[in-house]
Amino acid sequence: MIKIAPSILAADISRLKQEVVDVEEGGADYIHVDVMDGHFVPNITIGPFVVEAVRPHTTLPLDVHLMIEEPDRYVKDFVKAGADIISVHVEACRHLHRTIELIHEQGAKAGVVLNPATPVETIKHIIQKVDLVLLMTVNPGFGGQAFISEVLPKIEQVKEMLVSIGHEADIEVDGGVNEETAKACIQAGANVLVAGSAVFKKENRKHAVEAIRHSSFE
Ligand code: DX5
Ligand code: ZN
Repeated sequence: MIKIAPSILAADISRLKQEVVDVEEGGADYIHVDVMDGHFVPNITIGPFVVEAVRPHTTLPLDVHLMIEEPDRYVKDFVKAGADIISVHVEACRHLHRTIELIHEQGAKAGVVLNPATPVETIKHIIQKVDLVLLMTVNPGFGGQAFISEVLPKIEQVKEMLVSIGHEADIEVDGGVNEETAKACIQAGANVLVAGSAVFKKENRKHAVEAIRHSSFE
């Protein structure tokens, strides 16, 4: 079952409530929330305050992607604001194991994220503890960038790693995902597709969500 997670980074932020309602009605499975701190990535976006504002307007899980240094400092605030899934970057965590435990203790699902150049081996000793592995298919910081196809073999590697230890976790891809690039991601083993521009920049969000979800059957 393929899940589609539209990223509100590409939404019309001045109409955020309607945008979220529109993609939920269009069949989205998660709402992806991109949090950037201006340190880990060269952009600043939103904090727990916005997650809290969105929470009453959707029943979908809020999939919060933290692109921030030392994310431990904010895990509690994001859970309190309504985050269901919190993903942290391997590159931003000094004590990744502790951070994953903290997310679980707070009652959310925990994901681990790898930048395009970070090898899959870096999560070998934590993968059995996570609910989700997120592979970046662009360098994080901005929406609307081109898909980096060199990441595709990493999807297969994560899949193999999960199978070899008998652990079930979602494999999510994020960045430059559209109805063309989604196909290879799904074929490699990804089951959650983040899409910013490919959903929110389209007039008909239902068509956009369906086109990505069914891309592997085309
Ligand atoms: C990039 C973000 C992505 C981004 C995806 O740093 O993590 O979630 O918003 O946007 P598109 O789909 O436009 O590449
Ligand atoms: Zn993201």
